[in-house]
Amino acid sequence: MASSSCLFLFCDRPSNQNFPPSRPPAYPARVNVTVSGKTRHHRTVTFDQRTNRVQLIEQRLLPHEFRIVSTPDHRATADAIRDMVVRGAGAIGATAAYGLAQGAREYTGRNSSAFAKHVERVFHTIASARPTAVDPVNAMAQVRTHMAAGESVEEQKALALAAAEEFAHEDVEHCRAIGEHGARLIGNGMNVLTHCNAGWLAFVDIGSATAPMYAAHDAGRKFHVYCDETRPRSQGATLTAWELAQQGVSHQIIADNAAGLLFARGEIDLVIVGSDRTLGRTGEVANKIGTYTKAVLAKRHGVPFYVAIPLSTIDWKMRSGDEIPIEERDASEVLGAWGALADPKGKTKSTARARRAYVRVANPTSGAFNPGFDVTPPDQITGIITPAGIFKPGELWKHRRVLGGPR
Ligand code: MRU
Repeated sequence: MASSSCLFLFCDRPSNQNFPPSRPPAYPARVNVTVSGKTRHHRTVTFDQRTNRVQLIEQRLLPHEFRIVSTPDHRATADAIRDMVVRGAGAIGATAAYGLAQGAREYTGRNSSAFAKHVERVFHTIASARPTAVDPVNAMAQVRTHMAAGESVEEQKALALAAAEEFAHEDVEHCRAIGEHGARLIGNGMNVLTHCNAGWLAFVDIGSATAPMYAAHDAGRKFHVYCDETRPRSQGATLTAWELAQQGVSHQIIADNAAGLLFARGEIDLVIVGSDRTLGRTGEVANKIGTYTKAVLAKRHGVPFYVAIPLSTIDWKMRSGDEIPIEERDASEVLGAWGALADPKGKTKSTARARRAYVRVANPTSGAFNPGFDVTPPDQITGIITPAGIFKPGELWKHRRVLGGPR
């Protein structure tokens, strides 16, 4: 499928005039996890009002063990984001929204100006946990806007929690709408490449890049997904592959450097990835390190390259991709690898407590440089799949009203 054949999908006007919908649709929940033969629905991120704890799927253990953990206070919530217990732009956005509400609810006084200073500190603690994704900042800004309507401290706390719940709900709704718009890109017999994990583990439910895949799968289309392994943390091999397996979608994991061969052989028809920050003014897309490489390959081989994003991923302020803060993580992630210890037959038990272990791979006297993200310029991107339709990257600003941008 050549990129030009997809052009009819672009919106001159938003293709979904009903977005946002006036009432919640009955979307199929996706985080249906089967452990020990039992299937249950889980959201990636939830909040327990009674204990004031954020509850998270412990993503560092997947796919070897499924465990829910909870954070006792907003500092622990920030640590969970930093240490990647929870990761993926939408999921850390929802976690940040709940974390801000959690922090607000930790305040025991009645003094409004001291409360405002406390909330400001909570905001900065959480915002600094991971710098590249804009979703946490946008999510917390949305919560604070709602809080401003409250007069007393107690009112503001209640509004904070309601706004965080609303953000989480919107995140799911945006992903569902992305699926509706993006599903038509995936035809029978196609091979789709994705990078990192932009699935339901990276959001509250459904996912962004995976949403069109799940919608096409539900429509009975047969296609195959190549999951980039996504070194150094292997989110493609561990998380995306696990999700697709849970959903029964045909897939294979490929080493990051195998994609060139597949493109050259004409074995990739479409690329869909997520984003941690998409600039509304320029159409530049920050996403997991290695995304840019795949975009260049896709362009070289005339394969359409799409980026799927909820509205919370758009940064309307930044004027250049050069300004995007690129997270640099610890060298140990590149110098070695985390995994579960295999039994002698090479199998791991997915239900038992996995023996998670770090193995050193690289030369012990060498250091490593470990940037977490890169920036793909708009001319390498065929389209941005949003909840309001599919847009050319350079036209986000023109459509900013329907995309929740400034007037
Ligand atoms: O470092 P991670 O695992 O948080 O990176 C995640 C990604 O890069 C995803 O592709 C991205 O968040 C977009 S989808 C939410």
